Amino acid sequence: MQGINKYIEQNKNRFLEELIDLLKIPSVSADPAYSKDVLNTSVAVQKSLQEAGCDLVEIHETAGYPIVYGEKIIDPALPTILVYGHYDVQPADPIELWNSPPYEPVIKKTNLHPQGAIFARGACDDKGQMYMHVKALEFMVKTNQLPCNVKFMIEGEEEVGSDNLGIYVANNKEKLANDIILISDTGMIANDVPSITTGLRGLSYVEVEVTGPNRDLHSGLYGGAVANPINILTKMIASLHDENNHITVPGFYDKVENLSKEERAEMAKAPFSLENYKKALDIEAVYGEEGYTTNERNSIRPTLDVNGIWGGYIGEGAKTVIASQAFAKISMRLVPNQDWEEITELFKTHFTSIAPKGVTVKVTPHHGGQGYVTPIDTIGYQAASKAYEATFGKKPIPQRSGGSIPIVALFEQELNSKTILMGFGLDSDAIHSPNEHFGIWNYLKGIETIPYFYKYFTEMKS
Ligand code: BES
Ligand code: MN
Ligand code: MN
Repeated sequence: MQGINKYIEQNKNRFLEELIDLLKIPSVSADPAYSKDVLNTSVAVQKSLQEAGCDLVEIHETAGYPIVYGEKIIDPALPTILVYGHYDVQPADPIELWNSPPYEPVIKKTNLHPQGAIFARGACDDKGQMYMHVKALEFMVKTNQLPCNVKFMIEGEEEVGSDNLGIYVANNKEKLANDIILISDTGMIANDVPSITTGLRGLSYVEVEVTGPNRDLHSGLYGGAVANPINILTKMIASLHDENNHITVPGFYDKVENLSKEERAEMAKAPFSLENYKKALDIEAVYGEEGYTTNERNSIRPTLDVNGIWGGYIGEGAKTVIASQAFAKISMRLVPNQDWEEITELFKTHFTSIAPKGVTVKVTPHHGGQGYVTPIDTIGYQAASKAYEATFGKKPIPQRSGGSIPIVALFEQELNSKTILMGFGLDSDAIHSPNEHFGIWNYLKGIETIPYFYKYFTEMKS
């Protein structure tokens, strides 16, 4: 790539300022209070794609937040790359745990980011990573080095399940036709250990509700004589794992893909320090399913976790009361071959069946999606691998991630194309947490690496 380093050096301050402007808009898709901001962000993304050199940029309205579509078709005979990303972000709360306000980006140095990192909600997930692609396009267009066609599809509902994107994709197969899908919405092992994400877990997210007596009761007058929904709910939840931390939902593991010894040995070669892992989280020990390593537990094994639990009196002081109802939100991360709708049904049946008489249980599915594994013997993976080699000076390690981007499996189903997950964030960048950040080095490295992918993919494809 002619002049990429010089171009980045000359423009990096502007690249940072533009990203900072984007991060100032609180595009929280989960909370309707921010709907204006989410819409404003879609317009900002549209503008940035126009300025970067797309010939056509449209805002496609949906029943929810709009999808920004952009394209630059230089020759229909050449390959087409479809870039996907999202401009919505997770809620910032608990806001009091941020060291600086989430929508007032600041640059600070950290141990892992000695050149500084931008602290703001969405810095890494996914505004920063999405914007690398916009700036990479700008470079290729401005220096006449765009080797193929490109389409952008940037959505505003990823953090709430991408329901409307699924409909859009199914209805626009021709418009979105492509040879490969490229996404930067995952991470890598470390700045000196580049990796490419080859797997994502599926997801089933449910809410459960346990109802006991028809009203809140005095815990002295009634306590001990009726089922307390909070006691019952916590007991039911505790029973969902056995003493080996296996999930007890019947049928849950039936379709789980079992990796061979060789595959597990290959995985174990990725550099990992359990000591550093524990230290970074301030924990004395790790915890999880018996018989598996930490890296296996968070990638190739399915899990079940309570994400929130509430009910009863949580105000100041003490109130002696037995609540009428108790609630919890539960996520199950799934692995290849587990079907999220089937798992949701299995959970529902089991959870309802373990409720004692005296309470009623309601299970409401929220959203979900299938997992994804990408083969590494493809042109797409090889082009990505060469791109990392060109800019990191070493071959990237293929690695499965524990996170989910449910729409990726749907892309394969509807558009019949594979996805390459070129993530430049670190697990320690605190996505979804207070003090989310994205290393400046990572941001610029992404902008540098992406054009090489375009180049190698086009060369290998023709
Ligand atoms: N970008 C993340 C997913 C991710 C992060 C995958 C890091 C791999 C490594 C995405 O925005 C996300 O948060 N996905 C949700 C699922 C969605 C349905 C809300 C998730 O994984 O919790
Ligand atoms: Mn994301
Ligand atoms: Mn996210």
